[in-house]
Amino acid sequence: MSAREPMADHAARLVEHHGSPLYVYDAERVRAAYRDFTAAFPYSPADFHYAIVCNKNRHLVRLLHALGAGIHANTPGDAFAALSAGVPPDRILYSGTNLNADDLDFLLGHRIRLNLDSVDQLRDFAARGPGGAVGLRLLVDDPTRASRIGVDPAELPEALEIARAAGVRLIGLHMYAGTNNRSLARFLACFDRMVAASELLPDLEELDAGGGFGVPYRPGQEPLDLPTLGREVAGRMEALSARRGRRIRLVVEPGRVLVAEAGSLLVKVISVKERGGRRYVGVDTTVGNVVVESVYYPHHRVEAVAPRGAPLEIPTDVCGNTTHSRDFLARNCQLPRLAPGDLLALRDVGAYGYAMSSHFLNRPRPAEVVMDQGQALLTTRRETFADLLSTQVDA
Ligand SMILES: Cc1ncc(COP(=O)(O)O)c(C=O)c1O
Repeated sequence: MSAREPMADHAARLVEHHGSPLYVYDAERVRAAYRDFTAAFPYSPADFHYAIVCNKNRHLVRLLHALGAGIHANTPGDAFAALSAGVPPDRILYSGTNLNADDLDFLLGHRIRLNLDSVDQLRDFAARGPGGAVGLRLLVDDPTRASRIGVDPAELPEALEIARAAGVRLIGLHMYAGTNNRSLARFLACFDRMVAASELLPDLEELDAGGGFGVPYRPGQEPLDLPTLGREVAGRMEALSARRGRRIRLVVEPGRVLVAEAGSLLVKVISVKERGGRRYVGVDTTVGNVVVESVYYPHHRVEAVAPRGAPLEIPTDVCGNTTHSRDFLARNCQLPRLAPGDLLALRDVGAYGYAMSSHFLNRPRPAEVVMDQGQALLTTRRETFADLLSTQVDA
């Protein structure tokens, strides 16, 4: 018996019970990722806010919160998802952009802390009075290069003046190095720019290193060296706190790195064609159900759940169940012999998988199951055709 067989039986039972395609998350893997991530930053006080944008699955949100994580909200909808999962408002940190008056009403009405993205947004916040405390997102790239993020360090004196006049305290700076980043040098260069800019803030209480910690999607890719990154950041925070004569809080907003590798999408083979030296394996899902390389850059490994022998030489494209010309789940794979009914697994889809699925192509979204302590918990029901039209009204 091969080592993979029990897992294959397990996947087959899940699909039998909950149908296909099916998102499956391994709760223990998420817990381990959170423990490894937090342990990599030997600094106190440090506060870790899971970036719910990449997967709002309530079971995963609750288990991360139970381990001590707060939530990073990118939009008011993110904050709503966190509140609905039972995360208290004082454990939600909003670091986002372009809030209109309704957004501000919603977030401030829940007393959610904000990192604002522009001087205009600081004016909007200040105009609401009285006082309060707020952070700013900082442009950590060369301001002469195109970037839409944050406040230019050169704008900080103006921001401080707006805040002073309104009795608002500017207590923090926030950076975002970009998503799926595996470069230590990139993170540290951004962090150093944030530390340098923070010297201007007399009321500084915290620095937020943002998210963007990458994962190796392709075999052979190097993972981000988190222990070194964490030590380097901690060293810089110690030096900053020593200069300030008080402990400055470190905030981090990991998303992808906590959940990506814990998720798979199980799909069923529907038909197999071979022609022109290629094999086309048709499956029962689509790029509308999971965002793939042709649509969003992460590549997802595809594996046969119960392989019948070694991978074949023939280049194989895994095709979706729509006629959309870009509906390929993967291209140029090496997969073993396959027949209708076989199961494939798209790996590493725990982040930005279900979250980026849509109704484009009108295939209802899959169900989500979390495997936790030996139990398969259905956490999101499979959508129906009715869900595709649920927001339409007859005019
Ligand atoms: C401000 C901010 N923080 C954190 C994240 C999470 O990023 P990641 O999943 O790449 O860690 C995002 C993603 O959009 C973000 O915009």
